[in-house]
Amino acid sequence: MSKEKPKTTISVIKADIGSLAGHHIVHPDCIAAASRILAEAKAKGIVVDYYVTNVGDDLQLIITHRRGVDDAKIHETAWNAFQEAARVSKELGLYAAGQDLLSDAFSGNVRGLGPGVAEMEFVERPAEPIVVFMADKTEPGAFNLPMFKIFADPFNTAGLIIDPRLHGGFKFEIYDVFEGKAVIMNAPEEIYDILALIGTPSRYIIKRIYRKSDDEIAAVVSTERLSLIAGRYVGKDDPVAVVRAQSGFPAVGEVLEPFAFPHLVAGWMRGSHHGPLMPVGLRHAKCTRFDGPPRVVALGFQIKNARLVGPADLFDDPAFDETRRLAQTIADYIRRHGPFMPHRLGPEEMEYTTLPSVLEKLKDRFVEVGPKAVAPKVKTTMLTHEKKEETTE
Ligand code: 13P
Ligand code: 13P
Ligand code: MG
Ligand code: MG
Repeated sequence: MSKEKPKTTISVIKADIGSLAGHHIVHPDCIAAASRILAEAKAKGIVVDYYVTNVGDDLQLIITHRRGVDDAKIHETAWNAFQEAARVSKELGLYAAGQDLLSDAFSGNVRGLGPGVAEMEFVERPAEPIVVFMADKTEPGAFNLPMFKIFADPFNTAGLIIDPRLHGGFKFEIYDVFEGKAVIMNAPEEIYDILALIGTPSRYIIKRIYRKSDDEIAAVVSTERLSLIAGRYVGKDDPVAVVRAQSGFPAVGEVLEPFAFPHLVAGWMRGSHHGPLMPVGLRHAKCTRFDGPPRVVALGFQIKNARLVGPADLFDDPAFDETRRLAQTIADYIRRHGPFMPHRLGPEEMEYTTLPSVLEKLKDRFVEVGPKAVAPKVKTTMLTHEKKEETTE
């Protein structure tokens, strides 16, 4: 009789259910409320293990189980945990209570209802180290740059050159979140084409990464874009990601290394500004200054028989002090631009804007002063908090 090894699923599901003192931190009572629901699900054997935390105003459920990705029971459990936490949030009068819960009706899957989801299923290796990344005040495309560096840049990941198990490279599944399409591309063969897409992180987002030699899943990112789901502004879609490390995957240190560069991401104040992504430990995962700067936390776990061993708070380390200092210097510098681009996002990416109403007010005061410029032949997409308008000029 052949013994098939059981598969383990890790589901990281997050939502902003309201927060204390603006968009700042999740209240401990909300974390307790969500934890109670997960404890019940554990007692019933639906989930094997869980860890509940927050990064800024986002409530994070890290769940391990045997039920595979997109499982109705797991999603229902997460949904109930968010509902319960949102109920407490409303009782306490927290800010933007229930922010990310766009619907009252759950129908088998949290996708499209507001929460962000990163899930992967695999047969555990004898030792299974994973890193869970959770960011606040930014968008899923913020992980494009670090994911590319981890899995395709030999100047970041020594293993791509010197470890025969990584030397064949990785496959990137990239979403076009505007068109609702996905494409699979190979690294290193197609890295210029990959970069041509993912350098526009508001639209082309790395969703999954697989090891090319055996199609083993290596990483997954949440790609929900609330603005596109809801058709109106409901907050930035603060993302999560899961990365497997060591023994045929990049080492943990290679997985963390890209975050030593505090790259500019979209988000920050009102979801409408560029700012540096600051790697922090959990105790500093709170966005204060201009509601930022955007933060990212990395929790390391070992998974054993679907149990979560850990976490290790990986950015809570003086090795990232200089990164944080540089991020703060960049934050000071870019803040001085105030309402000017490129600090403020371009009109097509702002989560809300008064531009249409200002133009409407001024339409009779604009006078002709010269020939019209030829409009560029590119497709532009204008997102306002009311609706998505597409124009091709
Ligand atoms: P692995 O065999 O787990 O990939 O070890 C490599 C390592 O840890 C180097 O830092
Ligand atoms: P969140 O998306 O984290 O709720 O932040 C919204 C915001 O407007 C911050 O200024
Ligand atoms: Mg919020
Ligand atoms: Mg948030």
